[in-house]
Amino acid sequence: MDLELLNTKIAGIERETAEATQKVTSIDALRSLDSAVLGKTGSLGGLIANIKEFPADQRGQVGKLVNEAKGRIKSVLDARMAELQQAAASASDEESKWFDPTLPGNVRPMGSVHPVTAVQWEIERLFERLGFTVEDGPEMESEYNNFEALNIPASHPARDMQDTFWLANGMVLRTHTSPVQHRSMKKFGAPLRVIAPGRCFRYETIDASHENTFHQVEGLMIDRDIGLPHLIAMAKMLLTEVMQREVTVRVRPGYFPFVEPGIEIDMNCAICGGKKCPTCKYSGWVEILPAGMVHPNVLRAGGIDPDEWSGFAFGLGLTRLAMMKYGIGDIRILNSGDLRALVAPQRMGGPIIVDKTTKSRAVSEPRP
Ligand code: PHE
Repeated sequence: MDLELLNTKIAGIERETAEATQKVTSIDALRSLDSAVLGKTGSLGGLIANIKEFPADQRGQVGKLVNEAKGRIKSVLDARMAELQQAAASASDEESKWFDPTLPGNVRPMGSVHPVTAVQWEIERLFERLGFTVEDGPEMESEYNNFEALNIPASHPARDMQDTFWLANGMVLRTHTSPVQHRSMKKFGAPLRVIAPGRCFRYETIDASHENTFHQVEGLMIDRDIGLPHLIAMAKMLLTEVMQREVTVRVRPGYFPFVEPGIEIDMNCAICGGKKCPTCKYSGWVEILPAGMVHPNVLRAGGIDPDEWSGFAFGLGLTRLAMMKYGIGDIRILNSGDLRALVAPQRMGGPIIVDKTTKSRAVSEPRP
């Protein structure tokens, strides 16, 4: 390169930069233009790197030419910057003239859905994909729907399995979501696929894993030739999908008057990883999914012929599953408004272990 060529290059860069400067409409874009031209490796700034190509006695001249050009370009950029800043300031003046005090403030959105709600929505989406309807049932139920229709007559000892809140009007606070099984059979007949999430109530002694108010999700599928393998496959898929990892389950026989056979599907305790803790009652396993094949008496009560149809039902412990998913070690926290548990669904970085004994452990703010 010689001085003449250098001069031509510099003139070209100045012209192009001046044009580009006028086209730029934002402060950020202007800053990028600045570094693209004047930066060390920029179109003008980079020319200095060629200084070695010139004979020693011309190098001073080269430096001078480049630096003078830099100065001129800088003042063009600065002038444009002043214009843009002026424009931005008057735009925000304009905005503030129109300030509307009734609009929500310009603050970072705060709050999140409750962990139980978050898991409930996940399960609803999953089952809707599988062709299930989401049904609702009342929290105040008739004794008939909560018990008799489910093959639990008044004298049956199984009534003692579920300590019941009786209301003065003779109704009960439903002890499980299973009454929605009966309601759905009446409403839709067979074949049938429903889930029914909701709140249930039991007169319980409260501890780390028992509350008087908790959530379940009832599941019911009635069709021809439905069997236990369908139930177990569905249960595994459900737990794996919610926990977002392969879940180890254990299947045991279980007794519920409204299923035959009845089973208990347990999952490995996610709080202690199976090492035994208060949440899993030191067993390493958590009862999460009581289930079974719908008892013929229950089908009959729902107006469905047990010789033609069969089905499975489950009563997922939704509250427990939310605790497992988010690593919440004490059920009492969920109804307490404790922020450590309430921000859980917003946190993406794995479970936070929260229990009543770690009172002072701060939880960092939810992610924006
Ligand atoms: N309703 C039962 C309970 O709350 C759970 C269950 C539902 C069991 C469906 C079997 C089938 O304990």
